[in-house]
Amino acid sequence: MTERGPKRAVVTGGGAGIGRALVERLAARGARVWTVSRHPVPDAPRGVWALVGDLTDPRTVRALADAVERDGGGLDLLVNNAGVLGPRVTLDRYPPEEWDRVLAVNATTPFRVIQSLLPALARSRRAVLLNVSSGAGVRGRACWGAYAASKFAVEGLTQVLADELGDGGIRVHAVDPGGTATAMRAAAYPDEDPGTLPTPDAVAEAILRMVDADPPPATGTRLLARDWMDAAPLPH
Ligand SMILES: NC(=O)c1ccc[n+]([C@@H]2O[C@H](COP(=O)([O-])OP(=O)(O)OC[C@H]3O[C@@H](n4cnc5c(N)ncnc54)[C@H](OP(=O)(O)O)[C@@H]3O)[C@@H](O)[C@H]2O)c1
Repeated sequence: MTERGPKRAVVTGGGAGIGRALVERLAARGARVWTVSRHPVPDAPRGVWALVGDLTDPRTVRALADAVERDGGGLDLLVNNAGVLGPRVTLDRYPPEEWDRVLAVNATTPFRVIQSLLPALARSRRAVLLNVSSGAGVRGRACWGAYAASKFAVEGLTQVLADELGDGGIRVHAVDPGGTATAMRAAAYPDEDPGTLPTPDAVAEAILRMVDADPPPATGTRLLARDWMDAAPLPH
């Protein structure tokens, strides 16, 4: 673990995809990591506390915050990563209950998690809070329905929080991972060859570079993973 690297981190949705890769990288660096997903995290690495639960249930969010609190100390990193895609249909056919579910997981959950973990983040000298967004969070396109609306909400939440917290405290960013070879991306683009996309691990590495950066990017800036990767940008 580097001098500056986070020693205590929460990553939501650490059971698969980008979240799983982040959890693995952080644990390999010796960090203590807390994560939550609805399915158990297979082969959770050493140092990882993996809670099985649905983050739309406030009791799950409370259990997460309690676990961090019980361990004592502050929290250096929070990554609001858990997300769902929802149906890829036009708005006239969009099932209202799916709209509610996608907004609940992608937009309301980060708000609740932030509220419950801000005290722990405030106890760290260099806390970083990342809200995972998407290109769909800055440009709405046909058939992205509640997913796009939820990611616009994530962008708004991030801007409000960065402004409220100001400079010199917790650093806040919306992070756009870009197209990444995960189950969610395969569901959105079933005909795409995942071999043409960055792996979750490459994106996790880029995200941890954002966290470690010295000097750090200004709080409130929107960060694109592809700008923090070694290789030439891959298809977005
Ligand atoms: N992959 C891409 O190309 C791409 C592009 C732009 C943005 N993103 C964003 O990046 C983030 C990660 O996406 P991914 O591609 O890695 O997705 P993924 O492979 O589908 O993984 C999503 C993770 O979130 C968890 N999760 C979902 N709903 C949950 C809930 N209600 N409670 C607790 N955990 C929940 C899932 O675990 P369970 O199913 O076990 O709950 C899983 O661990 C998301 O916010 C996504 O919107 C991805």
